[in-house]
Order: sequence, then C-alpha cells, then structure tokens
Amino acid sequence: MKGVILAGGLGTRLRPLTLVTNKHLLPVYDKPMIYYPIECLLNAGITDILIVTGGEHAGDFLKLLKNGKDLGIGHLEYAYQEGEGGIAEALKLAQDFADGEKICVILGDNIIEQNIRKAAGEFFTQRSGAKILLKEVPDPQRFGVVRFEGEGDDRRVAEIIEKPADPPSNCAVTGIYFYDADVFEVCQGLKPSGRGELEITDVNNYYLQRGDLTHDILDGWWTDAGTFESLFRASEYIARGGANHADQPVKKQIAEAAS
Ligand code: DAU
Repeated sequence: MKGVILAGGLGTRLRPLTLVTNKHLLPVYDKPMIYYPIECLLNAGITDILIVTGGEHAGDFLKLLKNGKDLGIGHLEYAYQEGEGGIAEALKLAQDFADGEKICVILGDNIIEQNIRKAAGEFFTQRSGAKILLKEVPDPQRFGVVRFEGEGDDRRVAEIIEKPADPPSNCAVTGIYFYDADVFEVCQGLKPSGRGELEITDVNNYYLQRGDLTHDILDGWWTDAGTFESLFRASEYIARGGANHADQPVKKQIAEAAS
C-alpha cells in the first residue's frame, strides 16, 4: 500500500504565519507539522510516499525533506496543486503515483497519538472499497460527522455530513482514509460543494452508498492543526505525550543524527 499526504491549500486560517511558509511546515512543539503524518505512515509500514502541496512556498518542502532518506522514507515524490480546490481535488494528483495500488491518504495537518497499524492491516485484506477512521470530539461541527442508524451491534454509518450546523453525533471523520484504485474515478465525477471545493466527504459517501465503506475508531488522541486553537492544542498534546512519540521512526532518526 502506498501513502499520500495532502498538504496543499493556502492555510488562510493561519495567516499571517502562512504568508511566509506553508502551513504544514509550521512547528508543532519540536517538529515541523509535516513530520507527524510522515511518522504515521512510516509507523504503519508505508514507506512509498507522495506529498501533494501547493502555494508559494512549496519549495520549502524540498529544503526540509529532500529525498526523504534522512527520515526513513523509502521513496518520496511530490505533486503540486494549483489553488485550493479541495481535498478531493488534491487527491486526483495522486493517480499516477498510486498506479492501481491501494492507498492510505492522510491530511497534512492531522496528528495522532498512537498508530494506524491495525486499520492498515484490515484494509490490506479488505477486498475493495474504502475505510475511514472515526473519533469522538467535543466540537463536531468543525468536521465531517457521521449519522448513525440502529443501536448497539446493529449500529451502522448511514451518512457523513460535512461541517453540520446541527451535528447528528459527536463522531468526526478523521483525515486518515484508505481507498482502492476506484477513488480517482470517483473524484473525477465530483461537483464542487457550496464552498467551491471537491469534498472528500462526497467521496466517502459514494463508497458508503456502494456498500463498500468500513470504519474503525481511532485509538488515542487525534487533532487537526489548521487553526490557531488546534495548532496550539497539537503542540500541547505532543509536549505532554512526548513519551508516546519516542519510538517513532522520525524521532529516532533525529536522535541518531544528533548523537
Ligand atoms: O481534519 C479532518 C477534517 O478535514 C474532516 O473531518 C473533514 O471532513 C474534511 O473536509 C477536512 O476538513 P477541514 O475543513 O479541516 O479541511 P481543510 O480545508 O482545513 O484541509 C485539511 C488539509 O487538507 C490541509 O491541511 C491540506 C489538505 N488540502 C486542503 C485543501 C482545501 C489540500 O491538500 N488541498 C486543498 O485544496
């Protein structure tokens, strides 16, 4: 399985910080934001990685990551997204890289405490379709949110609603997704939403209606880092939970380089 990190967009919610660099290169405690999704993929054994970025500071990624070898990345590619037409638009740029293989997609501003090894293993054996990871949050109106039907063991995902004013649950769809090779055809068929973007939630709802969407609950904490509040929270979580991150490949590489 290959890994795709979506780090495009213009980061307007973090201005003026993003006037001088790309949002995903801003510090989250002791590392640039982009290190965390890289660690997440490496921890799941995914070492063939594409970073989709954009904006005026895309060259800064090369300065930081180079060919990725120092971080333990087996193979690193970059793609450039013009403008900010949405997450699903950025994903379209990964078609050649994926080359028919299953992919794990992670948003460049998503940070997790633990790892996605179990979900990645499950998706590896899932015959087709997609898989999403869910997490209960106190502020679901900021995210894609699941509406469930049924109770207990019969509970199933009925719909995903993007940033609902009146959330039907507090279960957010995290920015970590697994897709089969059909995802690019699905993205091609999307129409821009009210905010003028190709929405990843529309992709997930397509798989749901096809009866081919599985889900798992993410263990440990999860946060995005795309607003001042969440960026601050992410740094706090990492600072407090440093021990949990100690075994992560990137951390090890940095420690080795420093010694
Ligand atoms: O963090 C999880 C949430 O991410 C999901 O619950 C939502 O369903 C999903 O739509 C998304 O919501 P956000 O509004 O937080 O997405 P945002 O526009 O902040 O973009 C998140 C990342 O996606 C960003 O750090 C880089 C990437 N992106 C985004 C856009 C709009 C791109 O690569 N290209 C883009 O054009």
